[in-house]
Amino acid sequence: MASRPDTPAPHLPSVRISPATADDEATLWLMLTYAASMGDGGPDQVAMAQADPCLCAYVDGWGSQAGDLGVIAREAGGRAIGAAWLRLSPEATPGRVAEPSVPELAAGVDPEARGRGVGTRLLQALVVLAAPTYRRIRLSVRAENPARRFYGRLGFQEVSRMTNRVAGESIVMALELPHPQGTHG
Ligand SMILES: CC(C)(COP(=O)(O)OP(=O)(O)OC[C@H]1O[C@@H](n2cnc3c(N)ncnc32)[C@H](O)[C@@H]1OP(=O)(O)O)[C@@H](O)C(=O)NCCC(=O)NCCS
Repeated sequence: MASRPDTPAPHLPSVRISPATADDEATLWLMLTYAASMGDGGPDQVAMAQADPCLCAYVDGWGSQAGDLGVIAREAGGRAIGAAWLRLSPEATPGRVAEPSVPELAAGVDPEARGRGVGTRLLQALVVLAAPTYRRIRLSVRAENPARRFYGRLGFQEVSRMTNRVAGESIVMALELPHPQGTHG
């Protein structure tokens, strides 16, 4: 967990990780379709994500809500190929983790770039970015999703199970962040 934003990803040296800003909302909608396993990230999937109240809450107006933090991976030409971001969810939404002081993580990588270390670098950079603000971060992942192993390797631990937005089972996982000096946790 020693990586910092703006460092190159190891398996894809031309990829750079940098903090997300409010200008990146369109990119996050695309990445949300990947995170939610909605398909190829075309305009139809983005529109579906925007119309889904559970998914909408991860991105709508991103960057304007207190505590929004994220990182984006870009190829040398500037195309975004992945993102990981955090948002507080003060109000309970069906199918989402509800813990007001602990932000929820969303992460997605372009299908063609997966398995090459981009997600690992995104999460490492996000942990560095978030540690001064938060003591703990959480996520939910479908029980059958191989990404459970990915999060486990990064130190996330299962804390509970829940019914997700498609009525399946999801695992709620949490990661304690280093050097807690949080204003939200
Ligand atoms: C999960 C994800 C963000 C990881 O990014 P990545 O760049 O592929 O990750 P890395 O290359 O650093 O690590 C590889 C690990 O990612 C996971 N992974 C790889 N491809 C995946 C895929 N298609 N779906 C889910 N997880 C995948 C695996 O756990 C893999 O390691 P393992 O095979 O040894 O278990 C990315 O694969 C992704 O967007 N997957 C689809 C959406 C998803 O499941 N998001 C998480 C929802 S909570």
